Amino acid sequence: MIKSSRLPGFYKLSIAERRQLLSELAELSEEDLRSLAGGITPADADVLVENAVGVYALPFAIAPNFIIDGEELFMPLVIEEPSVVAAMAHAAKIVRAGGGFTTGSSRPVMIGQIQLLDVPYPDAAIIRIKALKSELLSKLEHLHPTIRRLGGGPVDLQVRKLPETPAGPMLIVHLLMDTRDAMGANAINTAVETLAPELEAITEGRALLRILSNLSDQRRAWASCRIPVGALETPEVSGEEVAQGIFEANVFAWADPYRAATHNKGIFNGIDAVALATGQDWRAIEAGGHAYAARDGQYRALTEWRVESNHLLGYLEMPLAVGTVGGLTKYHPTARLALKLLQDPDARRLSQIMVAAGLAQNLAALRALVTEGIQRGHMALHQRRASMLNIEGRDGGK
Ligand code: MEV
Repeated sequence: MIKSSRLPGFYKLSIAERRQLLSELAELSEEDLRSLAGGITPADADVLVENAVGVYALPFAIAPNFIIDGEELFMPLVIEEPSVVAAMAHAAKIVRAGGGFTTGSSRPVMIGQIQLLDVPYPDAAIIRIKALKSELLSKLEHLHPTIRRLGGGPVDLQVRKLPETPAGPMLIVHLLMDTRDAMGANAINTAVETLAPELEAITEGRALLRILSNLSDQRRAWASCRIPVGALETPEVSGEEVAQGIFEANVFAWADPYRAATHNKGIFNGIDAVALATGQDWRAIEAGGHAYAARDGQYRALTEWRVESNHLLGYLEMPLAVGTVGGLTKYHPTARLALKLLQDPDARRLSQIMVAAGLAQNLAALRALVTEGIQRGHMALHQRRASMLNIEGRDGGK
């Protein structure tokens, strides 16, 4: 338990001082601290992927100030973009003024798809699949004993018809499966591959694709915050104006896909940074989030912001398929450290923390955009970075 995630002046310390302070506050071991040097070796990389020739490091930072469901947290972030960490820390501080983030999540149910072609009687096949649902699900009983022991396993089987496609009509079967603390890609892929021959026999069709869907809309997390408008003020702009501006900016992103893409990119600045730090498949998370943003046929903002009773209310809900067992969390010491900093959450809790990070990042971006604009903060940090790397010196000041 961290007593307080407030760390005033943390940014002014040296890296060694920050590590020292963090290790005291979060009770880190020598081994934890060693993992901050990059985490994996070239030999580890060789085990993880084919043709490895080395490893590639990125900054690992923490954003202080978070309160999520009453719990004080340091947010671990892996990101190369200047100003994201500072912006997130600042937004978390603003949200603190309203008591922090409140979050929730659904059961961690993944979707696996089986594509059936050349089904001679699609409507009859749908009826047969539905009638044989329990029997079909029981064929998966021998798979994934750990997931089952922990209360997960297959939940449902659903069938959809894609009547008119250039490849003819198709039946699409969805297997819904609670994968508990695993992200679940392997578990669901094994399950749909096991089911496919059974479905071929029942439907007299041909199974082609058997793969998870990254639109994991049965596995969603949400976060909300309620900020007194006074906490939003800047030296030049009143809190009321900032709150109203954030509402108007959000409506713009709801109504216009060109703006929505940038708006949601800002959300993913937060979510991806935590995903990378904690060893998640961030491509899966991105794919799911963007597909969900277009769920009514138009690509829209993932967030909602409105002003009510002198408060700014924010809400973000989206699919978040994450795991705290298996995958990189098993092999990457820095990912394990990031999870330790988050108080070793289970997968649902991690998804809730990540969606709060996304909402915080969106708040920071919108507040900057409706006041001084993004460039002032960005450019100051960019210049700092350029001077640290002595870029001007290197290219002769061109
Ligand atoms: C930059 O990485 C992200 C922003 O463009 C997001 C936004 O415009 O909302 C600042």
